[in-house]
Amino acid sequence: MAASYQKFTVAVLVLVSVILYVNSFIIGAPPDTCGNPTTFHTEPLNDSHVGQYLPQDIDKAPYKLFVNARRYENYTFARLKGKEKNAVRITLRAAPGDYFKGFFIQATKSNYSLDRPDRPAYGTFRPVDQNSAPRSCRAAVGVVGGITHTGNTNKTEVSVDWIPPVGCNLGDVQFVATVVRGYSEYWVDIRSDVIQPSGFVRRSLLCELYVDPYNRRLQRRVLQALRELRRRQRQRGPRRG
Ligand SMILES: *[C@@H]1O[C@H](CO)[C@@H](O)[C@H](O)[C@H]1NC(C)=O
Ligand SMILES: *[C@@H]1O[C@H](CO)[C@@H](O)[C@H](O)[C@H]1NC(C)=O
Ligand SMILES: *[C@@H]1O[C@H](CO)[C@@H](O)[C@H](O)[C@H]1NC(C)=O
Ligand SMILES: *[C@@H]1O[C@H](CO)[C@@H](O)[C@H](O)[C@H]1NC(C)=O
Repeated sequence: MAASYQKFTVAVLVLVSVILYVNSFIIGAPPDTCGNPTTFHTEPLNDSHVGQYLPQDIDKAPYKLFVNARRYENYTFARLKGKEKNAVRITLRAAPGDYFKGFFIQATKSNYSLDRPDRPAYGTFRPVDQNSAPRSCRAAVGVVGGITHTGNTNKTEVSVDWIPPVGCNLGDVQFVATVVRGYSEYWVDIRSDVIQPSGFVRRSLLCELYVDPYNRRLQRRVLQALRELRRRQRQRGPRRG
């Protein structure tokens, strides 16, 4: 537990210094799908213009995103109750007779518009089979805030596990998927039911920042707290032994 929390702390500190970063990938969704899932597929029309395939009508999406829990739990609290782990299983399923080739799933604030620039991605994802691979997503502790496909075979269903950060109450969380049937045919903003936090009693400053990573006031407070910590360590002087 202490080690896990320390990991979380370190990860949040990394997050403070690297709020946004760029990466390149060879499999799965295009690199920026996490931050901006709405401009997904483009193609050059001629020398000066790039055409865009717009997403299909979300109200008619032949896909659903299911969660196997209504809550995610405080890990310590869950352990006290004898539970093994606090993962939540997410399943993306096509309507009967339908299929998909690609997908990108992330966890975010419930009912928070996808295109808001301050929208965070929460937790980490773990594949349950070879159909998916974790994908870095902005503002994600452990930098694995998303998960995507590994190949473009026709799929009818895929499941992944989501692991919330240890000891941090994220508030209400919702899973959001972009699903691709073909290059020019895709759906954005397919949402799961909302899951709620359970067994939490407090929220640390680092956790507050994780929940709201683009908040300047929180960023300043965390940096201030770090400076204060360093000052006190210096006063205490080097440790012996
Ligand atoms: C390129 O495509 C755009 C959009 O169809 C069009 O308006 C423009 O005239 C085209 N440019 C050339 C050089 O063909
Ligand atoms: C979601 O947000 C919209 C606009 O911010 C609001 O009108 C709506 O009531 C919210 N829905 C829920 C379930 O909170
Ligand atoms: C995927 O399904 C479509 C529609 O049924 C079919 O045309 C296509 O050949 C399938 N692709 C593969 C790789 O099986
Ligand atoms: C998690 O639960 C434990 C045991 O009930 C509690 O002591 C701890 O403060 C909780 N953590 C948070 C972040 O609320």
